[in-house]
Amino acid sequence: MEKPIVVSGIRPTGYLHLGNYFGAVRNFIRMQNDYTCYFFIADIHSLTTHPTPTNLQAGVKQVLAEYLACGIDPEKSTIFIQSDVPEVTELYTLLNMNAYLGELERTTSFKDKARKNPDNVNAGLLTYPVLMAADIIIHKAQFVPVGKDQEQNLEMARKFAARFNRMYNNELFPIPRPFTFDGKDMIKVPGLDGSGKMGKSEGNAINLCEDPKSIRKKVMRAVTDLGPTEPNSKKAEPVENLFTLMKIVSAPETVAHFESLYNSCEIRYGDMKKQLAEDIISYTDPIRNKINDILADTDYLTKVARMGAERARESAAKTLSEVKSLIGIKSLF
Ligand code: TYM
Repeated sequence: MEKPIVVSGIRPTGYLHLGNYFGAVRNFIRMQNDYTCYFFIADIHSLTTHPTPTNLQAGVKQVLAEYLACGIDPEKSTIFIQSDVPEVTELYTLLNMNAYLGELERTTSFKDKARKNPDNVNAGLLTYPVLMAADIIIHKAQFVPVGKDQEQNLEMARKFAARFNRMYNNELFPIPRPFTFDGKDMIKVPGLDGSGKMGKSEGNAINLCEDPKSIRKKVMRAVTDLGPTEPNSKKAEPVENLFTLMKIVSAPETVAHFESLYNSCEIRYGDMKKQLAEDIISYTDPIRNKINDILADTDYLTKVARMGAERARESAAKTLSEVKSLIGIKSLF
């Protein structure tokens, strides 16, 4: 039986953090045996924020090395760099003809970014979900492992895929679905600064390559409150976030232990943070140690990128030619 197809990507805007890892990469690793996987580095998407050429190149290498250090196996999965597959941007152009200003303007992430950076509301930002749809459907993906923050972008990809099928009276594209390994809701890894998600631009991230000392320092500084004064009281957001993070990285018994201390008003946040920091370190330690070795091996990185590009292009070119033929784009020679 054919394995279901999976596509997902990460922008190379710096180091991978715990949000990227638990929202995406951990699922990539778990999926690679049972699915046909395409995991890429979304360098074109990252251009919406105008990185310098040096930072862009460094970011691409870093994410590639981090993918590999986390355990994504280039023999099992196709790992590639988005810009190495020009078929993607060609499909993006074609899909743009059926993507409407109103729906693009209504996307939450577009509105958020336009509000935060009013001087850089570029067309790439507006059509970001279209490029993302092209990434996904060019390999006819059935599943997309992403964190909760990408839910709406994925919804748009589903819409564009279905629209194309309808317009051309075809079933070329499967309608891609979000994927979470345990069938639970998509995950949102909170930041340690009291509210919201962990993110690079939020400045509240713990990176995979961070050294243990720095992890301990960041976790110990996490925002909490004065502690519960009544048994079984509702947790304020910063404390809830700390527990959410603990549920993600720690053993269930550890979480239960601190839940019970919280409920009996005996919790000492300092103890909880110490435990949380150690549990984070046990995840990141083996990865951190590998990242620098892999980064130093330029030949290996080149080999992986080349192999990935070849495989991804083969799959992408096939779909693109089907798309063109359905649309009626046909060369006269
Ligand atoms: P990006 O680069 O912002 O994030 C990469 C992945 O990490 C997840 N993530 C999180 N998950 C849970 N909690 C968090 N705090 C957290 N922070 C980040 C994201 O959900 C994502 O899965 N548009 C995408 C990249 C992309 C893509 C695609 C993804 C481009 N094309 C096609 C899937 C399929 C992005 O900017 O992710």
